[in-house]
Order: sequence, then structure tokens, then C-alpha cells
Amino acid sequence: VAKLKESVVLKVTPTAPLRRTIQEAATVLRRGGLVAFPTETVYGLGAAALEPAAVRKIFEVKQRPEWDPLIVHVGSVAMAGTLARNLPASFEALTARFWPGPLTLVVERSERVPDEVTAGRPTVALRMPRHKVPMMLLEELKAPIAAPSANRFGSPSPTRAGHVLKDLDGGVDLVLDGGPTLLGVESTVVDLTQSPPRILRPGGVSREDLESVSGPMPVGPSVEDERVQRAMKSPGLTAKHYSPQATVELFGGELHEILEQMVARAAALQARGTPVGAIASREMMYSLQAHTDYVSCFGKWGEWLRYAQRLFAALRIMDANEVVVILCPLPPAEGIGLAVRDRLLRAAGKETPHT
Ligand code: TXA
Ligand code: MG
Repeated sequence: VAKLKESVVLKVTPTAPLRRTIQEAATVLRRGGLVAFPTETVYGLGAAALEPAAVRKIFEVKQRPEWDPLIVHVGSVAMAGTLARNLPASFEALTARFWPGPLTLVVERSERVPDEVTAGRPTVALRMPRHKVPMMLLEELKAPIAAPSANRFGSPSPTRAGHVLKDLDGGVDLVLDGGPTLLGVESTVVDLTQSPPRILRPGGVSREDLESVSGPMPVGPSVEDERVQRAMKSPGLTAKHYSPQATVELFGGELHEILEQMVARAAALQARGTPVGAIASREMMYSLQAHTDYVSCFGKWGEWLRYAQRLFAALRIMDANEVVVILCPLPPAEGIGLAVRDRLLRAAGKETPHT
């Protein structure tokens, strides 16, 4: 596809964005344009949420199927209230504790929310981000911003402005470059229209923390959701469709078991001449380096936040280096480890990938 134009890129200091830069971004949104911006999780591709034409552009640029609804970013709990109806008591408890932050709440929507945003569903996903850039932008715009992750549908979410440009250059009017994002995985999505509430997507707020406020929360789509999703999905959107280009292989267990298995697998692949990459903890580096073409180290075993921060960038770098198989250790399903596992499983095509 021919590139029509180049995106404007403006640097922003995450802790102290220039008012002038934020005003420029707000102007783009008011005119119905698209702005990519950093959040505490990943970069978002924003449009004025109450403008159907602007929202449609997001789907076009991302090549996102129209059945996949968007998250609406709000600047306050009050703004969220104007987009929702029949809010349950858990909404107040969860927002009081976790907003602003990496928690998205699915609630009944009000008639103000366009069908384009919710893919025609009776619910809307709301999130108040904890990052100065979107917070100031929301304050300046005084209106909600619909924003999915700023990647092409199916590729790993962008954790740096360069990832946004790689996927969407020319399609987005303005990219605010605030450097690498803090968490690296997306927000936790919780469906409050079910009882008990259900974690649809593990993310930046841990299941343990959510349960300490709101009681037990099952994880994963309900059986009904899964059935509907499968029925809606076209054959072209099967697991294989999803990035990275390389095949992802996963290794679970204790550190020493994982290391032993990864080294054996890497050696076998290299013996066949297959370019192999790995994500590794510091303890694994020495043994893995001898048998791999590319290793990305996240930090010490147990530093799962650092694994989360590096994961998507590591997958993208290995694709850029034409690695064919990527070997990845699985963290335990605790804290942010649950979100890292979820993204790894999806990257390996083990579950319906999200976007
Ligand atoms: O951290 C994040 O959540 C990032 C930043 C930019 O805020 N955004 C993000 O958006 O990851 P996106 O579109 O890539 O993922 C949104 C997820 C999708 O899995 C979508 O299906 C789900 O939220 N979702 C949105 N609206 C929903 C609804 N009404 N009911 C159920 N799921 C919904
Ligand atoms: Mg996404």
C-alpha cells in the first residue's frame, strides 16, 4: 500500500508535557484526526470518542475488524458516568482504588456512546489512564477519547513511538513520543455486567489486587462470549494470523527446568540452521547465548514487571532480525506474571489472540 503522507512526531516529556504540544494534539482530535500517545501501559491510537467518523478512521488505519469494540479513555469518574448507565456498586469501589490506572471496566453504555465505539454492543469499556500525556489531553479536549493500542491489528502492542510508526506511519496524523511505556502490557479488562465480575483480559492491575477490593473474579471470556466470538470471526483471523512473524515456543516450570529445555531446543534448531532467538533472564544468558542468534534479557528471574516492559519490544526486534523461532520462558500466573503469560500464549497461538 502506498504511503499517503508522513505522520508528524512530537517529543513529549512524560512527567511534564508542554501545554503547547497537548493543545496541538487536542486540535487534531477536534478536527476528527488521529493522535497516537503514550499511556502507562502501551501506546494508544486516539480519536474523539463521540465523533463516529473519527472513530471509523481508527478501524481503517489499524485494519481492525468492526466487531472488535474500543476502549474509551476518560479524564474523570464523572466523565465516565456520562457514558454509562446502571453502574454497579463495584464500579465505585474499583475506580476509587485503581483509577487513574491500568484498569478498564466494561459497563452498560449510555445513548451518548456511538455504535462505532462499542461495535453495536450494549456495553462500553472505560478507562482513566495514569499518564500525564493522555490526562492533560483529556483535560484539554474536555471529551472522551476512544483509543485501542496503536498497532496494526494482530501485531504486538506498541511500547515505543517507533513501533507505532512501523505499523501505522502515514495513517495517524500526530504521534506523541514519550519514550518507552512503564508497564509494557495493556490494562486489565473487567466485565462488571456479569456477576461476579469477570477478568476478560489480565493486565496491569493484578487479579490479587482486584479480588482484595471486589471478591473472587474468574479469568477468561465466559463460555457464551467465546461462542459468540468464534461465530463472528472470519477464517482469515485464526491464530496463525497473529504476530510476531516468528513462531513462539513456550517453556514452563522451575528456572532450571526451563533453562535446560530451552538450551536443548535452541541447540537442536541451530543444528538444523534455523535462526533462533530467546527471551531470557540474566541467569539464563550465559548458556543460551552459545546456542541462539539473538537473546533479549529482561532482568533477573522473578522480575516480571521488567519482563512485561520488554516483551513486545523483544518480539518486534527478533522479527526485525529475521529470527524464525523465539523461545520464551513462562512466568508464574501471579501478579503481572498472569498478563505476561496471557500475551505469550496468544503470541504462540495457544488462545484466541486479542488485539
Ligand atoms: O492498556 C490499554 O488498555 C490500551 C491503552 C491504549 O489504553 N488499550 C488497549 O485497547 O489495549 P485494545 O483495543 O487494543 O484492547 C481493548 C480490549 C479488546 O480486547 C476489546 O475486545 C475489549 O477491550 N473491549 C472493548 N470494549 C469492550 C466491551 N464493550 N465488552 C467487552 N470487551 C471490550
Ligand atoms: Mg490492542
